[in-house]
Amino acid sequence: MCGIVGYLGNEEKKEILLDGLQELEYRGYDSAGIAVIEGEKLSNYKAIGKLENLREKTKNYSSENFGISIGHTRWATHGKPTELNAHPHLGAYSYVVHNGIIENYQELKKELQDDGVNFLSQTDTETIVHLFEKKHKTANSVFSAFEQTIERLDGAYATLLITEADVDTIYFAKNGSPMLIGFNGSDIHFASSDTPIIGKASEVYYLEDGEYGYAKQGELKLFDANGEKSFTKQPLTADKVSAQKDGYRFFMEKEIYEQHRVMSETMMGRVLDNSIDFDEIDKSFFDGIKAIKICACGTSYHSALASAYLFERIAKVRCDIEIASEFRYKEPLLSDDTLFITISQSGETADTLEALKMAKRAGLKSLSICNVDNSSIVRESDAAILTRAGIEKGVASTKAFATQTMVLWMLSLYMGQEKNSISKELLQTEIDAMLHTPKALLVTDDLHAKLHRLSKRYLHGHGFFFIGRDIFFPLALEGALKLKEISYMHAEGYPAGEMKHGPIALADSELFTIALMPKTMHYDKIKSNVEELSARDATICAISPLPFDLADDFIQTKYDSHPMLEFFEMMVVTQLLALEISVRLGNDVDMPRNLAKSVTVE
Ligand code: F6R
Repeated sequence: MCGIVGYLGNEEKKEILLDGLQELEYRGYDSAGIAVIEGEKLSNYKAIGKLENLREKTKNYSSENFGISIGHTRWATHGKPTELNAHPHLGAYSYVVHNGIIENYQELKKELQDDGVNFLSQTDTETIVHLFEKKHKTANSVFSAFEQTIERLDGAYATLLITEADVDTIYFAKNGSPMLIGFNGSDIHFASSDTPIIGKASEVYYLEDGEYGYAKQGELKLFDANGEKSFTKQPLTADKVSAQKDGYRFFMEKEIYEQHRVMSETMMGRVLDNSIDFDEIDKSFFDGIKAIKICACGTSYHSALASAYLFERIAKVRCDIEIASEFRYKEPLLSDDTLFITISQSGETADTLEALKMAKRAGLKSLSICNVDNSSIVRESDAAILTRAGIEKGVASTKAFATQTMVLWMLSLYMGQEKNSISKELLQTEIDAMLHTPKALLVTDDLHAKLHRLSKRYLHGHGFFFIGRDIFFPLALEGALKLKEISYMHAEGYPAGEMKHGPIALADSELFTIALMPKTMHYDKIKSNVEELSARDATICAISPLPFDLADDFIQTKYDSHPMLEFFEMMVVTQLLALEISVRLGNDVDMPRNLAKSVTVE
């Protein structure tokens, strides 16, 4: 994870770096730092904790002339979140920032220590700067020393290096961690994603793995293993306004509220009067496909789990779901009649990306469902369907989950339609329900007020069980994940019918059960499961369109004509409940402890 920015040009550098880091703070907020070389003058500031601490520390500093600069916001992997471990890391006369993990850093560190180098931090990153300075002693140029340095690095990195040995140049390298370069006249920006450069650069180039080079006097030189190469910049047109809070208290809150709107975008041009269409996939895409395997992590994994019910029920295609980090090391048996789908909000999740590369090596056709165009996962896939949720900044994912689930629902119908495994009548019923989804996602004042009131009763206890059946089981998993991420209370999602096989032993009045009780899907079965918990005195919060006498708290939902409408409405309830509990506990909703938005380490 971690966020990187770099800037070379005549503008005031501190503000550019800090504004850029602000946009990337979701990637990690254990510490932040900047380093600037202006003329011969080198300045460096670091602060632990959120970026505001670094802002405070640098309030009397500015750099108005031409210069080079780098910045970093950290999610700790090696070493505690201390100032010494914060980037940029200093050698004798050079600074480096890095995102990723240098897997052979211990070997490199030992080698450097044997040469007498003194390490100040516990990080893997510090090896880069010392290695560079060691190579610089014998290399015939700074660039050659940089090249020799990255040749020695194993693992994932996006790294920027500046040095007093070459005061008008930024050196960069990318392998396995995201980095892009923005251009605005002779100004050059570097960043981990495009949000820091929106509004600052008019063109962008997304670096590929294995690319490296340097920026100097408004010019960029790009290299890979085959030597110097040309590259094509793309126009950067994204809209800055979409990344602001718009009057909401938190990004997560804004993102919950905007789900009904973005969902219409997700469906636009894809949900037609009586068919589903995806421009992104040509008609022959599913030829020869007999099964689907989906790999993802976290929330994206939950949307995958829900879709397995839909692919088998609607499209009549076998569908297996795997957690990407497990898939990578299980030596899976793969056959080329399987479509390999990855799901990812960021498109940069290391485990998901690696799983995709494995599947590709095994010759599988690949499709990604992703929120970020041009992300690593999108670029690596044979085809991609964008979820069109817009920038998601809350670390706890909401609208990404909603739009992923919608794309998967549409895809199951599309496959059913293309393979003739779904009747015209069923397709029409599903499309009619789909078109009602934005309404089911609307947050009313009454609902939000009720969840705000209710939340005060759920600030203690020894744990939460979210329970549901069928597609409501993955929704229960997702509800529990949202709650634990931002409330720091223990919460589990469980299949309702499985409680009696063990977890019911935990039931007492301090066990909070959030029961997802849709009218359209196994209502009587889940009702019996909840009754069993109530008989053991568990505190029950029922979410259902049907009144339930045994509920201690009851949230009545409105949409009871189709399971997916019930799914989306209940999803909003669980998201708002988690938000309100977190607010009452005084937690940082958008940047919960220990987390980061984009998990680019394994
Ligand atoms: C939870 C959350 C994470 C992500 C997971 C995968 O709210 O956001 O669990 O879902 O890290 O990230 P992506 O979807 O970017 O691959």
